[in-house]
Amino acid sequence: MYLNTLNLRQFRNYQDQKVEFTAAKTILVGNNAQGKSNLLEAVELLATLRSHRISRDRDLVQEGEAVAQINATLERQTGVSDLTLTLRRNGRRSVALNGESIRRQMDFLGVLNAVQFSSLDLELVRGGPEGRRNWLDTLLIQLEPVYAHIFQQYNHVLRQRNAFLKRHIETLYATSLDSELAVWDAQLATTGTRVIRRRDRAIQRLAPIATAWHASISGSTEHLQIKYVPNIPLEDNHPEQVEQAFLAKIQQRAIAEIHQGTTLVGPHRDEIELTINQTPARQYGSQGQQRTLVLALKLAELQLIEEVVKEPPLLLLDDVLAELDLSRQNQLLDAIQDRFQTLITTTHLGSFDSQWLKSSQILFVKAGEIIRHLS
Ligand SMILES: Nc1ncnc2c1ncn2[C@@H]1O[C@H](COP(=O)(O)OP(=O)(O)O)[C@@H](O)[C@H]1O
Ligand SMILES: [Mg+2]
Repeated sequence: MYLNTLNLRQFRNYQDQKVEFTAAKTILVGNNAQGKSNLLEAVELLATLRSHRISRDRDLVQEGEAVAQINATLERQTGVSDLTLTLRRNGRRSVALNGESIRRQMDFLGVLNAVQFSSLDLELVRGGPEGRRNWLDTLLIQLEPVYAHIFQQYNHVLRQRNAFLKRHIETLYATSLDSELAVWDAQLATTGTRVIRRRDRAIQRLAPIATAWHASISGSTEHLQIKYVPNIPLEDNHPEQVEQAFLAKIQQRAIAEIHQGTTLVGPHRDEIELTINQTPARQYGSQGQQRTLVLALKLAELQLIEEVVKEPPLLLLDDVLAELDLSRQNQLLDAIQDRFQTLITTTHLGSFDSQWLKSSQILFVKAGEIIRHLS
């Protein structure tokens, strides 16, 4: 798939900026705080309706304005699509496809696919489980847009059940509310099971691809293992079995939950374990080795999305290329070639291979404006 144009209106520090992409690789050059990451974030929002910077919509709308709009034309094998996302300072988002507004977000997701890679992704290795869950969920939304809906349902039930536990923290000891709680338990198990099964399937497909990339980048000296460790013990991926295990664990933890007034059981407590040569990756090796791991994850995401959607997704490289050493840079560039349209941000062009600068489109970004290269 190929992004032809992007139009940002009152989005972040862009007033009204149209960009045309004319090469498989576009390099956005500029000093800090000029708007490079903002532009990539706009593309990410069209792909996932999420931002890895996790901002509220009011932060995405330009200061002093009420509404922001991101618009793009995208070429796929099936034809050209026009995507519009409208964000409001005080209000709900809306999305439109080819000029028609779309009611269900999941019908908008899956039109544009993109893999985002920024220095924040190092947190996948170093940070806590929440970041890894978020990463997996964002990938799943692209692999199967219905997941966005499933995930939302689970979180809705989780919030309701938490509120219930909090409200009745005293009376629950008397067990008179057992039957009402049982209704929430059942819903939590049903919706949670859908989340667990999809996360399990996604990791099963992603893990071997990432392990292979990792072996290739590290020269086979290191063995990466990615393992889904659900909070509910998973013997197989049958819905009845998972649901039963879910309910059994709720029973087990009932007293603790009533004590703490919050839900202690379910996929909001899942972990995705990353180990290298049997050692947790967090403790393993240098920053360079941790970067290799993240690079392998990102290449695996690209490959898996391509396998599933049958077209190469976009790749968004935010300030990471210059951080990789030359051999890893080349591994990445070899892997993407010209098949994956790639948007790259950097503060200087000096760190790039001249060969490939020649074939790239170079755009300068300054204070929310894009200036084309004049040569
Ligand atoms: N809602 C907003 N309204 C106006 N300016 C914003 C908004 N959000 C962020 N900015 C500005 O965007 C700039 C940061 O842009 P960013 O794309 O992160 O920079 P970089 O070029 O370093 O990647 C900052 O100057 C910040 O003040
Ligand atoms: Mg930036």
